[in-house]
Amino acid sequence: MQDTPIDSARTTSVPFVADDDKSLPLRINGKPFFHGGDPSMPLLWFLRDTLRLTGTKFGCGIGACGACTVLVDGKAQRSCLTPISAATGHDIVTIEGLATGDALHPVQRAWIEADVAQCGYCQAGQIMAAVDLLKRTPKPNDADINRISNLCRCGTYPRIRQAIKRAAELMHGASK
Ligand code: FES
Ligand code: FES
Repeated sequence: MQDTPIDSARTTSVPFVADDDKSLPLRINGKPFFHGGDPSMPLLWFLRDTLRLTGTKFGCGIGACGACTVLVDGKAQRSCLTPISAATGHDIVTIEGLATGDALHPVQRAWIEADVAQCGYCQAGQIMAAVDLLKRTPKPNDADINRISNLCRCGTYPRIRQAIKRAAELMHGASK
């Protein structure tokens, strides 16, 4: 059995048809897919290799770096450590699904304003972690931001901090 075909990941309407009762349904960026293979396969592989949603990156594969961070029911989660069986039935959002149409998410806008990215490899994960933080803590202080455990090999942490505070302003009108 095959997973949902690659091209369908970018279409606006993907019919969900599980071709047997062992297929695992997934909802990714608001669209339905199914996985017919190993249920222990990391979600990251499905995103990148099956759907070709390559904004989410592989860094360490052991949950340490955060490059693979996606939102699962709105919470930041390491997709390299998330088996597909644990993702089924949940709403998954990747960096490709963060904007609303042509309107970037405020965190993305803040990231651009602050010119955060250096090599860019960690940035999708950083942004998803920031979205989660700002949802839980609308006006994060430095200590709140320091609790984000995503790593940046380029060390662009000051700009990440600046962008998160700017995103808080864009979203909530003020920051500490
Ligand atoms: S690749 Fe998932 S935490 Fe590093
Ligand atoms: S911008 Fe290069 S690893 Fe973070």
